[in-house]
Amino acid sequence: MSNPENVRIAPAEGKLGVLIPGMGAVTTTFIAGLEAIKRGVGKPIGSLTQLGTIRLGKRTEGRSPAIKDFVPLAGIEDLEIATWDIFEDNAYEAAVKAGVLDMPLLEQLKEPLSALKPMKAVFDQNFVKRLNGPNVKTGGSKMDYAEAVMDDIRQFRQTSGVSRMVMIWCGSTEVYHEAQPVHATLKDFECGMKHNDPEISPSQIYAYAALKLGIPYANGAPHLTTDMPALLELARANNVPVCGKDYKSGQTFMKTLIAPGLKSRLLGLSGWFSTNILGNRDGEVLDEPGSFRSKEVSKSSALEYILQGDLYPDLYKDFYHKVRIEYYPPRGDAKEGWDNIDIFGWLGYPMQIKINFLCRDSILAAPLVLDIVLLMDLAQRAGMRGIQEWLSFYFKAPMHAPELYPEHDIFIQLMKLKNTLRWMRGEDLITHLGLEYYD
Ligand SMILES: NC(=O)c1ccc[n+]([C@@H]2O[C@H](COP(=O)([O-])OP(=O)(O)OC[C@H]3O[C@@H](n4cnc5c(N)ncnc54)[C@H](O)[C@@H]3O)[C@@H](O)[C@H]2O)c1
Repeated sequence: MSNPENVRIAPAEGKLGVLIPGMGAVTTTFIAGLEAIKRGVGKPIGSLTQLGTIRLGKRTEGRSPAIKDFVPLAGIEDLEIATWDIFEDNAYEAAVKAGVLDMPLLEQLKEPLSALKPMKAVFDQNFVKRLNGPNVKTGGSKMDYAEAVMDDIRQFRQTSGVSRMVMIWCGSTEVYHEAQPVHATLKDFECGMKHNDPEISPSQIYAYAALKLGIPYANGAPHLTTDMPALLELARANNVPVCGKDYKSGQTFMKTLIAPGLKSRLLGLSGWFSTNILGNRDGEVLDEPGSFRSKEVSKSSALEYILQGDLYPDLYKDFYHKVRIEYYPPRGDAKEGWDNIDIFGWLGYPMQIKINFLCRDSILAAPLVLDIVLLMDLAQRAGMRGIQEWLSFYFKAPMHAPELYPEHDIFIQLMKLKNTLRWMRGEDLITHLGLEYYD
């Protein structure tokens, strides 16, 4: 099925502003990466928008352009960054502290990184209990803080000369809070902002400011931000796309690769135990039970949705799934994930799979940040608004319409993403049926 009338996509003219609450390991690795790529001292490995191709038409046609040539995306050289953080460190100092990238590389990039200083953050320690810092906005109501963030954004727009912006949360994981009456409608929410309702989180204040100004909002952390009727109402009213949540970078990425494979061969699962050791600031924040709860919820659902125990009771009805994250400072950002997977085959005979993924959290997350920013800007220019389920590919707990179950299988997610790009450009969607080759 093709889209007979191509979606009208406004051109990617001018510079694109990237607004980032939180300038820690992921953000500095992302920004340093952009600078390294611009100077030709690194390549955007892991980025679908930079290195991916997309097949068009029949396999016999030999048409597989680069994604960035197929849809009009902003270029890396067009990106202008602005950040907020509770610490005053500039991007060079923050990158050194994060300890992800080697010093010789950071020294080469010292000049542009040192020039990037974070704006004062909206912060509430009730939502991130393990952190406290001096670079915060003070005084006034939550609505006043949102106005202050909007002022920051307007000023950035003026000084940088950007023509469009996207906001992406790379701040710490907030304590798990579900929707409350204050999140029911935009009116309730705005009233709550004026009266400092304790259920409104800092991330929701940033998101409100972005959506009010018509700026797309993406959530890279597991806590709930725009997953609330009030903020979705605002996104729809202002024609702004939103997506999230929680970058699918390490262990859940592995899970969503392997679980569809087991299911494709109808191999059963009796248990999946995942544990991680990591020693960065993210690990320290997640060592606190409230923040860990946000992560636990976002990490837990993928297997259940992929394996569909209700449809396959003999295979997946009662498997035991446990996820642990252990804060272990010596390891820094070089996380280690262990998975023990107890499976069973023909006649119920048990087998085991062990995965030991020695990964680097921020190295895996940085290309996802780049892709999400560029594709959210594309979505905005294509007139798409509200939840962008086609970007599920990037998230551990993808946002989805309330009447749907989320799609977690990474291969289906990738197909969905590429078909959305084909649909935007009026190309035939690819079903992989292929009978026509044998007529
Ligand atoms: N692979 C990954 O690294 C990965 C994967 C999935 C999700 N995430 C999520 O991405 C986020 C960033 O990860 P990280 O490793 O860079 O963490 P980090 O601790 O290095 O950086 C987070 C930064 O956010 C700042 N911050 C906290 N609250 C803030 C606020 N209200 N406003 C502005 N700044 C604030 C902190 O001071 C810190 O500098 C975390 O929520 C993490 O759970 C990371």
